[in-house]
Amino acid sequence: MPLAGDRADEGPAPLVFACHYLHYAYLDRFPALAGVSLEVAAGERLALLGANGCGKSTLLKVLDGLVFPTSGTVQAFGDPLTEQSLEDERTSAAFRSRVGFVFQNADTQVFSPTVREEVAFGCLQLGLSRDHTQARTDDVLDLLEIADLADRTPFQLSGGQKKKVAIASVLVMNPQVLLFDEPTAALDPRSSAWLRDLMATLAGAGKTLVLATHDLEHLADLADRAVVLGEDHTVLADATPEAVLGERDLLLEANLVAGPVG
Ligand SMILES: Nc1ncnc2c1ncn2[C@@H]1O[C@H](COP(=O)(O)OP(=O)(O)OP(=O)(O)O)[C@@H](O)[C@H]1O
Ligand SMILES: [Mg+2]
Repeated sequence: MPLAGDRADEGPAPLVFACHYLHYAYLDRFPALAGVSLEVAAGERLALLGANGCGKSTLLKVLDGLVFPTSGTVQAFGDPLTEQSLEDERTSAAFRSRVGFVFQNADTQVFSPTVREEVAFGCLQLGLSRDHTQARTDDVLDLLEIADLADRTPFQLSGGQKKKVAIASVLVMNPQVLLFDEPTAALDPRSSAWLRDLMATLAGAGKTLVLATHDLEHLADLADRAVVLGEDHTVLADATPEAVLGERDLLLEANLVAGPVG
């Protein structure tokens, strides 16, 4: 697997995603994206920032081919990402093997009778053998320190434990691109620090990471680029974490820091 740094003299990294002027409203009534354009290059770590309801989760769902914009275009790996393109089984399987998504709400992601089956599910879907799947599953359960939960029922776990199961069920497939929706939100400090380290390791191994987060404190560790969505569902800024954090007016406008009360 090429390391991110190996690309230094090879020119710009290829684009993983290219979104052009996306619009989306739920039920045609609740706007979530209002003219969002952005590109994500291979090997980048991009943070999506913005107030509650500004459209971060919706944008991640668009990148994962779960929601399709009403207007605007999305390309993934150089090809159009549309409802029609994903109807083709091979295209869909290839896309799903390359892109993994950890949902904001782990409850909507876990559904199997046991944690072990939950984590194994994606590998079996990808067509891996039972032995290979079992080996990968055991590795990932160990990596996430949840081997002791292997025989438990996912929906009976605590919020943070469920989140770890959801993360495991995505990592086990070893996708090139990882979409994380507020990955550390439900985690205790040790697990959260551990996950930040893991994300850095994944980025170091050349993976592309896009994450929605409210964690400004660790932003500079988590990402090398930050896109700020405004409450009007447009892109307010696209810059380095340091540049974004230095813009007090922008942070106030985007409701990323609290202004004076009253
Ligand atoms: N299933 C849905 N049905 C109707 N409206 C929705 C649905 N999901 C999201 N919305 C609306 O779309 C807008 C964008 O929501 P989204 O979940 O993308 O925001 P977000 O930036 O992820 O917020 P948060 O920080 O709270 O997770 C919001 O106004 C929200 O109410
Ligand atoms: Mg969200």
